[in-house]
Amino acid sequence: MPEMVDRFGRKHTYLRISVTDRCNLRCLYCMPGEGMKFMDQDRLLSYGEIAEVAEAAAERGIRKLRITGGEPLVRPDLDQLIARLAAIKGIEEIALTTNGLLLAAQAQKLKDAGLNRVNISLDTLDQTRFKFIARRGNLDKVLEGIRAASEAGLQPIKLNCVLLKGINEDEIAAFLRMSVEHPLHIRFIEYMPIGHDDEGWRNHYLPLNRVLETAREAGFELEAGSAAPEGSGPSENWRIRGAAGTFGLIHPVSEHFCKSCNRLRLTADGHIKPCLYWMDELNVRPALGSKEALHTLFDRAMDIKPENHEMAALLAGEAQSHRPTERRMSQIGG
Ligand code: GTP
Ligand code: 5AD
Ligand code: SF4
Repeated sequence: MPEMVDRFGRKHTYLRISVTDRCNLRCLYCMPGEGMKFMDQDRLLSYGEIAEVAEAAAERGIRKLRITGGEPLVRPDLDQLIARLAAIKGIEEIALTTNGLLLAAQAQKLKDAGLNRVNISLDTLDQTRFKFIARRGNLDKVLEGIRAASEAGLQPIKLNCVLLKGINEDEIAAFLRMSVEHPLHIRFIEYMPIGHDDEGWRNHYLPLNRVLETAREAGFELEAGSAAPEGSGPSENWRIRGAAGTFGLIHPVSEHFCKSCNRLRLTADGHIKPCLYWMDELNVRPALGSKEALHTLFDRAMDIKPENHEMAALLAGEAQSHRPTERRMSQIGG
């Protein structure tokens, strides 16, 4: 079976699978605080249907799967999906991106089912601020989830910190120190305008050169690119000399990484999204039940995948070349 290579020569080996658009938090960079309309449950792909798409994708060279949401752990019996995916020939790694709230209860079960590792969102180390950013939930539960994941051997653990100007930028140094003291990989992420180009984004977007400036101001000695934990995502990796852990920068807006894009997405309601940013997507439902039809769909995804997003142009107030997605991040999975 031919590998999936797009018009720009990029080989696709990574499939991000969203299993729900629901979430037990309402992070301000991801969805509105109130009134979010969720997908009808009968529009979600079943675990059997997801496994069918993943199996066809593995035949075309997909080696890594990442389960996303919304919050994936709110979908019942996720371990059953993991077990099915782990049995697919060719899949070498299964990872999960979660907000961590339900992780303490599920970490061991997920590991036993075949999950290899987790990325956990953590935007602040302050309880009051957590309530402001996430609007619900409890920071202690997330910290408990991080500990449980570590104890269950879901390692290396990466923490995702979306930096928000005027909200959590004063915690950069604390997060850097965390990477010195603990064997964790802390990733700072630029706030992206997915499904919403609004004042909130314009006011709170923070370019990540702020992180390196803060590190230097704090007197940390930096080593570029060294000993980063495994992963084929977009993070640029660093270590502070002598640190137990590492840190990473994910800077889609100030410096995009689309040249090395290796990923496709499957939404919970059964659409292949060749790119996080644009509107274009392909419905998998009509192709279910036929390997051939699924392969044709992957070929089309390669044909329509754009070269890059245009978030920087958006920030500069310039026109977009076509329509950005109207899905919010919670409806795509990041
Ligand atoms: P690793 O496998 O550990 O490298 O993870 P990852 O970085 O691929 O996945 P994760 O779900 O932790 O995503 C981290 C951040 O990167 C999120 O904010 C994602 O939205 C963002 N991200 C992941 N893939 C892409 C991409 O293709 N384009 C853009 N613009 N952002 C992405
Ligand atoms: N910009 C950047 N990252 C985001 N995430 C969610 N919404 C955004 C956004 N607008 C992150 C979450 C999670 C990952 C899947 O994407 O923090 O860790
Ligand atoms: Fe790939 Fe689109 Fe993300 Fe660029 S924005 S890295 S092309 S998914």
